[in-house]
Amino acid sequence: MEVQKKIAVGLGVSLEEVYGVSTFYSQFSLTPKGRNHISVCLGTACYVKGADKILDKLVQKLGIQPEECTEDGAFSLTACRCIGACGLAPVMTVNEDVYGRLVPEDVDGILAKYVE
Ligand code: FES
Repeated sequence: MEVQKKIAVGLGVSLEEVYGVSTFYSQFSLTPKGRNHISVCLGTACYVKGADKILDKLVQKLGIQPEECTEDGAFSLTACRCIGACGLAPVMTVNEDVYGRLVPEDVDGILAKYVE
């Protein structure tokens, strides 16, 4: 909120306008992003193919909820709408990498690729 206040003062606009823009565009986030950002698609095609189970597994493995970041800053997690890869449902992305036709058992191996 402090940063948003500074932006509002600097631009001469209301705090409400800054908040509206920063929550409207998906490129902006009010919470810190991890070095690796995981996004699980919860669009209709992915949801009916079990995306909620993929998200549950990630929550369990990372110990964070969607829109949170791990304490070490390695991972952040979010749920998103359709990313246009419905044929691969259920789908998740890690940074620019896309993983499809997932089952919960895939999560451990995918996370391992991003552990430093
Ligand atoms: S619903 Fe998940 S990619 Fe379209």
